Amino acid sequence: MAGDPIIGSGVHRCVCPGSFDPVTSGHVDVVRRATDLFDDVVVAVLTNPAKQGMFSADERVDLLRASLQGLPRVRVEAVGGGLLVDYCRSVGAVAVVKGLRSGTDFAYELPMALMNRHLTGLETVFLPGDPRFEHVSSSLVKEVAAHGGDVSGLVPDAVLAALVERLGLGDATPLQ
Ligand code: PNS
Repeated sequence: MAGDPIIGSGVHRCVCPGSFDPVTSGHVDVVRRATDLFDDVVVAVLTNPAKQGMFSADERVDLLRASLQGLPRVRVEAVGGGLLVDYCRSVGAVAVVKGLRSGTDFAYELPMALMNRHLTGLETVFLPGDPRFEHVSSSLVKEVAAHGGDVSGLVPDAVLAALVERLGLGDATPLQ
């Protein structure tokens, strides 16, 4: 369609959306693999009202930027509101990329993928999560860290430091 920012832009761009509260090593792996499949990748930070937030949108963006440093052709943006499909159209993305750790993830993601396709034809590409991170989610990481458990390796170093700071764990070094 003439004037459509998606078709004919010449750039095969995807969006990796999520709440990223905070970004985990599993997220980083999915974004890295998305760069192998697409010309460029926009990591879109949204607020999911169903989830309890620990970090503000700006903090989540900063942690993502620190964690994705060195990955080529990736940019991180906060999305103020509205539908993901509208955001994807505004940035000229041809697809959403999401990681799947399990059948539970698939059951959660499938209706959203189908709804997004229903709304504008936007496709979703699912990448199987790396088994090393199958048990890793932002919410479990926060819970384990809050109780002094060791989450090193499950999150990027910048996130580990931010968790220590946010949870006031600096003296006891319980995350090591
Ligand atoms: O990391 P999350 O919390 O599982 O990500 C879910 C998210 C934020 C990508 C999803 O809730 C979303 O797309 N929100 C934007 C609003 C929207 O488009 N809702 C309809 C989805 S079909």
